[in-house]
Amino acid sequence: MESIKQLLTTDKLDREVTVRGWVRTKRGNAYVNFVAMNDGSTVNNIQCVFDLETKFKEADLVKVTTGACVSITGQLVASEGKGQTVEVKATSLVVHGVADPDKFPMQPKKHSLEFLRENAHLRMRTSTFSSVFRVRHALTFAIHKYFNDRGFFNIHSPILTATDGEGAGEMFRVSTLDAKNPPLTEDGEVDFSEDFFGKQTNLCVTGQLEAELAAMALSKVYTFGPTFRAENSNTSRHLAEFWMIEPEVAFCDIHGNMDLAEDFLKEVIKYVMETCPDDLKFLSDRIAEEEKNLPQDKRQPMELLEKLRFATENDFVRITYTEAFDILRNSQPNKKKKFQFPVEEWGFDLQSEHERFLVEKHFKKPVIITGYPAKIKAFYMKLNDDGKTVAAMDILFPGIGEIVGGSQREERYDVLMKKIEDFHIPLESVWWYMDTRKFGTVEHSGFGLGFERLMMFITGMTNVRDVIPFPRTPNNCEF
Ligand code: 4AD
Ligand code: MG
Repeated sequence: MESIKQLLTTDKLDREVTVRGWVRTKRGNAYVNFVAMNDGSTVNNIQCVFDLETKFKEADLVKVTTGACVSITGQLVASEGKGQTVEVKATSLVVHGVADPDKFPMQPKKHSLEFLRENAHLRMRTSTFSSVFRVRHALTFAIHKYFNDRGFFNIHSPILTATDGEGAGEMFRVSTLDAKNPPLTEDGEVDFSEDFFGKQTNLCVTGQLEAELAAMALSKVYTFGPTFRAENSNTSRHLAEFWMIEPEVAFCDIHGNMDLAEDFLKEVIKYVMETCPDDLKFLSDRIAEEEKNLPQDKRQPMELLEKLRFATENDFVRITYTEAFDILRNSQPNKKKKFQFPVEEWGFDLQSEHERFLVEKHFKKPVIITGYPAKIKAFYMKLNDDGKTVAAMDILFPGIGEIVGGSQREERYDVLMKKIEDFHIPLESVWWYMDTRKFGTVEHSGFGLGFERLMMFITGMTNVRDVIPFPRTPNNCEF
């Protein structure tokens, strides 16, 4: 059975075909009805023409309403009308599932993204969301292809873990203990030794520590899986469940890490541009339509495809934290006290307003920042010779802010041991990680790409909830 995508592009016309899918719209008059059908294979619909004078009666089509699932058989012919090259002259119709027009929420009109989020179980039936999820598939495939083509091995890191990989304490606990009546220790604490794993366990916040173990054997590896963070930040860029890609490479320093990240981002964006032109065109037109009534300074500075091309064709800016700090401290918004968090003292953590200023106003390009103060970054990052900064790298994208976080890793046993003590990380939760520094340790680096953040950049969707099929955020775990 050919998909609608195949039927719309075939040159074998004047033959019988069957179209299966969901009705997008039905219009017409007493003589003829036009039914636009979509099966999700493409953003474009195929038009099916029902002749009400000779072949069908109006009553035959009462169940053919927006949202109904039907099969239509007929002749595939060149279209006489405007807006499509081929159409199907219907000869028979099967209705699989009706959709009561008074109750079906996805009517053929413009719905707000908020409304569609509340109806996430049906929103893939819209052109916008089916485009987003086709792009999501293409991007997933591009990522696996990129690494496969370069000799990386995909490692499935565990989802259940007993370590806090980032040391940020934003974890979801996993337990089979009776929540109402948990076993208690002598000092009245919950006794996790009686829990399923015999200790306290969580959902992973990262797969990095395990990826490092694998890189110490397979040299070049990557993970691509769901990660979970119980940070109670209700922003347009944070999810409680998001997907992360984490490459880890032995014999690689921070410079090799930056080169890999930049090449990787450019190549996967290019792949999506090549394989999803119709969806990207649709999403680009959608943004233009949304912004039509906004004043110039509220619109995106570049049209979607132009922005993607710009990101793939230009070098990312590379600066140190200290350079970024100087730019920010001397910036107009800082002098005029426009930042919510004023930039005063070296060592403060960059906030999203600062990141966006650097990327969107100052450089107008993706920016890689390295050499962050050790205090504000995770324990595993390599300490630089100055003793106060680490070989960290964050990549900041226009409209998104931080899209990648990574670093060269501290491979020296003693230095790492001191860090673990300073950060109060219990050795019994990371003894296996420390072992890699005892047995055949080597310089190595890696990074984590937030998959949904890259999806936002590529699709131009401005809320992270609109690029993952079923978003999980504080107070929201429906569907
Ligand atoms: O900077 P992060 O916390 O880095 C790590 O987890 C490292 N273990 C990565 C590594 O070096 N292997 O997270 C990496 C990226 C961020 O840059 C951001 O794009 C994304 O993950 N991210 C989120 N995306 C959506 N919702 C959230 N709550 C996110 N938190 C981080
Ligand atoms: Mg980060």
